[in-house]
Amino acid sequence: MSGKEALDPERIPRHIAIIMDGNGRWATSRGLKRYLGHNKGVEAVREAVEGCVEIGVSYLTVFAFSTENWQRPKSEVDALMSLLVKSLHSEVPTMDRNGVRLSAFGDLDSLPSRARKNLEKAMEQTRHNQRLNFNLALSYSARWEILEAVRKIAEKVEAGMLRPSDISDDILRQNMASWPLPDPELLIRTSGEQRISNFLLWQIAYTELYFTPVLWPDFKRTHLFEAVAEFQRRQRRFGLTDEQIVGQAHLKPARAAIKKTD
Ligand code: IPE
Ligand code: IPE
Ligand code: MG
Repeated sequence: MSGKEALDPERIPRHIAIIMDGNGRWATSRGLKRYLGHNKGVEAVREAVEGCVEIGVSYLTVFAFSTENWQRPKSEVDALMSLLVKSLHSEVPTMDRNGVRLSAFGDLDSLPSRARKNLEKAMEQTRHNQRLNFNLALSYSARWEILEAVRKIAEKVEAGMLRPSDISDDILRQNMASWPLPDPELLIRTSGEQRISNFLLWQIAYTELYFTPVLWPDFKRTHLFEAVAEFQRRQRRFGLTDEQIVGQAHLKPARAAIKKTD
């Protein structure tokens, strides 16, 4: 496994997204109730946040609760919402000390009011921090986000504030719940599942995908460093040919790396 010493500090991804999966399996394989897997998963969140701070990642976004997760048994949903409140209390002071700014996006109005209030308080408390932007996707799904953006844009068109011909990539992004997050360069999913499960569909168009069998509660910062090491071994081409990518610049955003062609 790679340590952070093996990483090229010039090519650390600016934004890492994580689908934190496998809490239930971690617990049931030990004969424990599923919620205990979620509780243990909080330690892995701390590892990921601190790992990102250590190597200088600017944005970390984790999928904490999906729109579809509301359909789980009520007892599990309630346990997850209580865990959110409890974790905000236990984790935010250290995050604040480490220069971490906490944000959240998703259908936040659908959260229980206690969770929403605690979240707002934590966001307010950490909003001046600049070392790492840590984002929780909560009651979130990418199709929900895209539909909401389309609805908002349609309202602006109807109100005469926007012409259909003005609708661009940027306009769509600016109306999305995750705005102004940049696209992630790297998406990690734990637990061996190789699917996106309705996370950041628009934003991951050119993201490098990394799947690991490690269950989320077992995830340590060394696993994060290993994912970044694998990212650094890849050549990102953005639809171009190998020859168009200049030397080592190939892992930087495409615009900076394209050779001028006639
Ligand atoms: C991820 O772990 C946490 C959430 C989806 C909230 P799971 O609860 O999905 O764990 P598995 O996939 O059942 O093992
Ligand atoms: C995705 O995991 C959602 C989160 C990690 C919050 P799920 O466990 O809900 O995804 P599926 O059901 O396996 O696709
Ligand atoms: Mg799962």
